Amino acid sequence: MTETAVERAARTEVEPKLRIEKLGVAYAGRVAVRDVSFGLPTNTVTALIGPSGCGKSTVLRALDRMHDEVPEAEVTGRVLLDGEDVYAPHVDPIEVRRRIGMVFQKANPFPKSIFDNVAFGLRVGGLRNRTELAARVEEALRHAALWDEVSDRLGKSALGLSGGQQQRLCIARALAVRPEILLLDEPTSALDPIATEAIEALIDRLRGEITMAMVTHSLAQARRVADHVAFFYLGELVEHGPAGEVLEHPRDERTAAYVGGRVG
Ligand SMILES: Nc1ncnc2c1ncn2[C@@H]1O[C@H](COP(=O)(O)OP(=O)(O)OP(=O)(O)O)[C@@H](O)[C@H]1O
Ligand SMILES: [Mg+2]
Repeated sequence: MTETAVERAARTEVEPKLRIEKLGVAYAGRVAVRDVSFGLPTNTVTALIGPSGCGKSTVLRALDRMHDEVPEAEVTGRVLLDGEDVYAPHVDPIEVRRRIGMVFQKANPFPKSIFDNVAFGLRVGGLRNRTELAARVEEALRHAALWDEVSDRLGKSALGLSGGQQQRLCIARALAVRPEILLLDEPTSALDPIATEAIEALIDRLRGEITMAMVTHSLAQARRVADHVAFFYLGELVEHGPAGEVLEHPRDERTAAYVGGRVG
């Protein structure tokens, strides 16, 4: 039965873009995260916070099937993208990673030109037309607030950019294939305050257009950019909700200790 527009609107209002259900990850039989369930509401920013080693990156990597590449990693549970499990047998992990982009702590541009970095995923996807490629590269660089700084040197090596520019380039590279979700694992922890501000402003601009999940060790950053916060502790999701509630009025004692600066 096909859905009417009204039914669809009603569903998407409550249905998160990505729903994580009873997610568990073990490495070589050792449980790293267990029984994690929460959603990423459409076109909002969810911050994943918690002490080092609590499983934040492990959860993030499960969302776009990056653990597929790690033989000792075992994932259980479901990750529903628009209601469909990304781990379902017929689903192509490459397509999952096109729809769910990832940006890492350390900017990792390829040793190629700025243009070729951004065009990379488009070419892998089969786009060959030069005019269209150029248009999509410009679109992604503008989206990542980098165009004005690099438009006159697209053919130069990406490795000649500053750390903050390299990170925005990695965001542009991720955005070029028009993902629906962007995962960011401590995207500013290697950057100075000015570069951090530029990335935060960018995340703020992307809000409303793309669904984001960002791991951060900075509670100040979570306060500045997050709509929702998920607090992890020892491999479990302890608390999840609107940022103001979790950060200012946590319900769990462990969350209170962390956001109050007593642990972590
Ligand atoms: N590839 C791996 N093989 C084995 N154990 C791993 C692997 N990756 C992570 N772990 C373990 O899983 C647990 C969770 O690690 P994870 O990197 O997800 O934590 P994190 O919350 O992201 O920490 P940090 O804030 O330091 O980045 C840790 O005990 C870690 O040692
Ligand atoms: Mg991590």
